[in-house]
Amino acid sequence: MKANGIFFMIVYFIYFYNVKAAVNLVEPQIYLQKIAKRVVELLESRYLTGPDLPIDNYTSSIEMSSYGITLSGNVSFHSAFVAKIGAMELNMQRFKHTLLNAEAQIEATMQWKNVATAMDFDADLEGFQGSGTLLVTYGHFDLPLTTKRVFATGEVSGSLAFMSISSQNDIVVVGHPNNAHVQMIARAITTNFDFRNDMIEPFRRWNFINILNVALEEIPFPEICYNC
Ligand SMILES: *[C@@H]1O[C@H](CO)[C@@H](O)[C@H](O)[C@H]1NC(C)=O
Ligand SMILES: *[C@@H]1O[C@H](CO)[C@@H](O)[C@H](O)[C@H]1NC(C)=O
Repeated sequence: MKANGIFFMIVYFIYFYNVKAAVNLVEPQIYLQKIAKRVVELLESRYLTGPDLPIDNYTSSIEMSSYGITLSGNVSFHSAFVAKIGAMELNMQRFKHTLLNAEAQIEATMQWKNVATAMDFDADLEGFQGSGTLLVTYGHFDLPLTTKRVFATGEVSGSLAFMSISSQNDIVVVGHPNNAHVQMIARAITTNFDFRNDMIEPFRRWNFINILNVALEEIPFPEICYNC
């Protein structure tokens, strides 16, 4: 009976061991938070309002009529720049890590909050020709951050890129000079996707690979625990 009991205990432990023991990355969240913190430091020291975040000149056509004002024609925007980024943080809601035989990947989303851009415009509209300035503040930008290690080579790589703005309800636009047409142009930025979209396009080409590579070189990718 006693030998039998021990036998079943051993069977139980073998079973338990097989179910519980797994191959895991060691603290992938902490790693990604360190990477993000370093990237923010580098962005803040090197990128924030410099020429590294370029915004193209562009012209958008507009056909819009409301509250007795009609906007019909073209508005060309130029000399735009990022004036201020309120805060940058890593949003762990979309944290994910995958561990395959050949590689491991860790990802989350970086968020920039209250991103203020300033731009000048020349409006060429029916019944209104004029120039002015807009200050457009986005509630937040989402920038997915991914890091990856290929085991065969040991190579660690990553990506960080602008993906999307927050909802249009989160955009605040202030226009100068303050007249009805400029107010309507400001309003069109928040309400009219086509009118706004050309402004957002260049954000997608912002390139953060150099600073991300600095962080990836400084902070070692998580070890693997083969029996945790
Ligand atoms: C707006 O620009 C387009 C393309 O450049 C042009 O064809 C059109 O005539 C312009 N409209 C006005 C009202 O200037
Ligand atoms: C954008 O427009 C401004 C003002 O007209 C001009 O000085 C600048 O050279 C233009 N930038 C490009 C890339 O065309």
